[in-house]
Amino acid sequence: MIYLDNAATTFPKPAEVKRAVADCIEKIGGNPGRGAHALSLVAAETVYDARCEIADFLGVPDPSSIVFTPNATYALNLALYTRVERGDHILISDQEHNAVLRPVARLQKDGIADYSVFSGQGDVLANLKKGETKETAILICNPISNVTGDRLPVREIAAYSKARGFYLIIDGSQWIGHGTPDRTVTHLADAIAVPGHKALYGIQGSGFLYLKNATNCNPFICGGSGSESANPEMPPYLPDRYEAGTLSTPAIASLAAGIRFLRARDPDLIAERERLLVRYAREKLSDIPGIILYGNENAASSVLSFRESLRSPEETARRLDKIGIAVRAGLHCAPLIHRRLGTFPEGTVRISFGAFNTANDVDKLVSSLREMKQY
Ligand code: ALA
Repeated sequence: MIYLDNAATTFPKPAEVKRAVADCIEKIGGNPGRGAHALSLVAAETVYDARCEIADFLGVPDPSSIVFTPNATYALNLALYTRVERGDHILISDQEHNAVLRPVARLQKDGIADYSVFSGQGDVLANLKKGETKETAILICNPISNVTGDRLPVREIAAYSKARGFYLIIDGSQWIGHGTPDRTVTHLADAIAVPGHKALYGIQGSGFLYLKNATNCNPFICGGSGSESANPEMPPYLPDRYEAGTLSTPAIASLAAGIRFLRARDPDLIAERERLLVRYAREKLSDIPGIILYGNENAASSVLSFRESLRSPEETARRLDKIGIAVRAGLHCAPLIHRRLGTFPEGTVRISFGAFNTANDVDKLVSSLREMKQY
């Protein structure tokens, strides 16, 4: 099997990550923060160590600003619902995932907040400014598209957002882990939502929200936190206010192990290898008659979208799967950018690389597509 669907979830997981999960289940069985016996304490320590590892990786000072969540979608909803106020206007880019689009559309439908979409193409800051209203309070953007790998000028957006006093939420799904996080941006963001199972190499069910300053905001989900148990309200402080219910210690341990795996190998080197693979794939695919490539050829990340002109993306993906090549076809839960690309509603075929892919994987994809020739 050649796995080219790392933007959906990285596979395989590093040996260190698998070991961390197994150790957690076999040796650290207690509930973190919910008891004073040895197994509960060591589980709490595992969770705390993970917070420290993540904060250090992001370059943010306070480990308690890391709130664990089951995935990035939950983290984005949490970021939005803790902050949004009735009458707010929200700006989002057109490369956002449904994890952003659907929550803001829901807020609009419920009459709570309005939103508009700015284009991530051309002069992005000018596009963004055009979308602003007097009520704009929240800005959400995804620095790297999960469809094309195209990049938004996130430093400029973050600086502008700060200057305008917007609450900046970043969807880090395709960004955090692809290289060392840009500290200029992590320092300017108010919230960063991150899945653990993508470029951080943790298992599915891991994720977090970095929340810079959200004491006493709406708690979103209420329940036991293992702290202030006599209080019928959620504790006011981070991370307890936003972590109701038992955390998944194995998932959290896997996330920390994934970050350690990345750091031991240098995230910038891995990201550079992924960029080279995208460039190589772009070059090879462009030689095949009938292949249409999408996205900015100078802004390579770890993702590339294409189509066979005479086949639907679903059909291309189905044929590749039969040969043992895993890719993702369709809209990739990001319909807005497909409207911009002119690939709506069928979408594209997407290949996405991770730390374990090689140029041989690209060669195999290319020779398979040639053999599957459309004409
Ligand atoms: N958001 C994930 C993707 O892009 C699942 O495939």
